[in-house]
Amino acid sequence: HKIESFQTNLVHWYEQHKRDLPWRKNQEPYQIWVSEVMLQQTRVDTVIPYYERFMRLFPEMEDLAYADEDAILKVWEGLGYYSRVRNLQKGVREVVEHYGGQVPKSRKEMESLKGVGPYTAGAILSIAYGLPEPAVDGNVMRVLSRVFHLTEDIAKPSTRKVHEAILYEAIDKNNPSSFNQGLMELGALVCTPTSPGCLLCPVREQCDAFSLGIQEELPIKSKK
Ligand code: ADE
Repeated sequence: HKIESFQTNLVHWYEQHKRDLPWRKNQEPYQIWVSEVMLQQTRVDTVIPYYERFMRLFPEMEDLAYADEDAILKVWEGLGYYSRVRNLQKGVREVVEHYGGQVPKSRKEMESLKGVGPYTAGAILSIAYGLPEPAVDGNVMRVLSRVFHLTEDIAKPSTRKVHEAILYEAIDKNNPSSFNQGLMELGALVCTPTSPGCLLCPVREQCDAFSLGIQEELPIKSKK
């Protein structure tokens, strides 16, 4: 019952409160891919203008696949972590050359692409294709640590798999896209690292940390 309420409340809240972001205008896998790569180490507000320029210059996978490295690095200038865009181009080339330009629909194939890890694979599969695949990043681990009182150290690499296993059970199979984006959005807007907005939270009644009054003690994160 907790899981069903959690799903319903999260998805409903997301659909009412989601920000109007440029990569939420459609479900093109390539567009979702670009946005998720940009969002990996960069804030939403910073990403928006870069994303819009990138999509104007490279609107289709073929445009990026055949672009000069200098040209793509120039568009990325200021975003940092330049290996991200080099790997994105390599991954897109693989799709154009080996998958007939169709972004694959399985986690295994997605994760074999250059630069695509478990988070990016799950984000693309769920948002573009509606598949019930988890997309676990730091924000999502914070939300799950609180809702399900998970005490694994989120700085440990093995913890992601624990959270993924929970999500394979908890994901809304009827709406994986809104469920996953709802977790991301909740982590960004409400379930923040400090002073979370529990009184505005759509899942506070399902939240173990809130009922115990320990929301600020979670997640557990060791310093490395
Ligand atoms: N952070 C990571 N992915 C995101 C998305 N799709 N929308 C907003 N913030 C995000």
